[in-house]
Amino acid sequence: MRVLVIGGGGREHALVWKLSQSPLLTKLYCAPGNAGIAEVAEIVAIAADDIKALVAFARAEKIDLIVPGPELPLTLGIADALEGHGLRCFGPVAAAARLEGSKAFTKDLLSECGIPTGFYSTFTDPDEARRYVREVGAPIVVKADGLAAGKGVLLCSTVEEAEDAIDRTMRSRVFGSAGDKVVVEEFLEGEEASFMAVTDGQTVLPLASSQDHKRALDGDRGPNTGGMGAYSPAPVVTAELHEQVMAEVMRPVVTGLADRGIRYRGVLYAGLMVTREGPKVLEFNVRFGDPECQAILMRLRGDLLEMMNATVDGELSTLSPQWDERPAVCVVMAAEGYPGNYEKGRVISGLEDLREWSDGVVFHAGTATDEGRVVTAGGRVLGVTAIGSDIDAAVGEAYRAVDAIRWEGVHFRRDIAHRALRQR
Ligand code: AMP
Ligand code: GLY
Repeated sequence: MRVLVIGGGGREHALVWKLSQSPLLTKLYCAPGNAGIAEVAEIVAIAADDIKALVAFARAEKIDLIVPGPELPLTLGIADALEGHGLRCFGPVAAAARLEGSKAFTKDLLSECGIPTGFYSTFTDPDEARRYVREVGAPIVVKADGLAAGKGVLLCSTVEEAEDAIDRTMRSRVFGSAGDKVVVEEFLEGEEASFMAVTDGQTVLPLASSQDHKRALDGDRGPNTGGMGAYSPAPVVTAELHEQVMAEVMRPVVTGLADRGIRYRGVLYAGLMVTREGPKVLEFNVRFGDPECQAILMRLRGDLLEMMNATVDGELSTLSPQWDERPAVCVVMAAEGYPGNYEKGRVISGLEDLREWSDGVVFHAGTATDEGRVVTAGGRVLGVTAIGSDIDAAVGEAYRAVDAIRWEGVHFRRDIAHRALRQR
């Protein structure tokens, strides 16, 4: 099979790494890729949001399966466009991708389907939003409705902060048109967990559990990021919680969409808060989590391409993926300044010695090559991912590799998997 992966981050490197092991694969492309991906797949210089060019490439190269990594091409309708030309896409059509693209759509669907989530109200008028906030009080959460590069969620501990958040989102429009509508939502307390499943619109097949670390600094302090590390499995997702999430969240949302004539195919990611009253949905993503994907794929024993084919063909009920019992840990190494502005072009050393690493893989996220050297080219630069006999061994192995890699200004967290280490 000829496969095209779309994207150029750590998640996409993990996807091409795993896909490249499939006996079904004959040719692998990635657009736009990065320096690490270039070692496994043929790089195509098309941006991940250039739907027209991507579809044209897939048609010209007779691609059998297209795998968008990030949400943007999906919310822009790449699955619809590909299917219009008879091409197969592992990922939802735009109507289903609204689960990530519109928070208001998602909250309405959740409440109509009786899926547990915080109370909320949606506004297009800032004065009404402010009135609501004064009525319900703080702490409270203000969310821009549309995609805002992960920055549109404002946790407010006072009513004044919330009113300011509404003004910044709706009047100053700091997130552009994503803030034309806001969702004001209950502040939920508990432990967060990521729950991912693949679905063909009927069968919902859970993937291994995982947890990421969103804050920039040790001890879960500092600004929010795309994710500074992840591990799998997540002890907070007990067998009982797993069943509850499948029965109360994952299956009902897929059925709820199907009842509305929308077929969901691809990965469905629920961001959950495990509260004292049980799991509640914070958000959905319509793709693999990054860096959760890196940790999870390290543990997948089966053929990822087979799983993706079964998803697209509506045959997931025939599969039951096997997972390596051993835990996996991914430590993100980031550029100086990330998640704010960061420098590019710093030379990375130490990668050569890790080529033959037997217990892990250094996934590239923001890298490029410059005169034969690997240099930084993004905020999250590498996702150093290891597997070990237990969580301590996996963490130890990951950090041994991290300590062998260097560039000027590199920063990373020292406490990835601290919750799992504590529960052990
Ligand atoms: P999101 O972009 O929806 O993932 O939100 C970013 C982060 O904000 C989440 O990972 C949570 O830590 C936090 N968050 C979002 N919604 C809520 C909520 N209703 N209550 C508490 N924390 C939240
Ligand atoms: N790691 C969180 C996300 O991919 O959205």
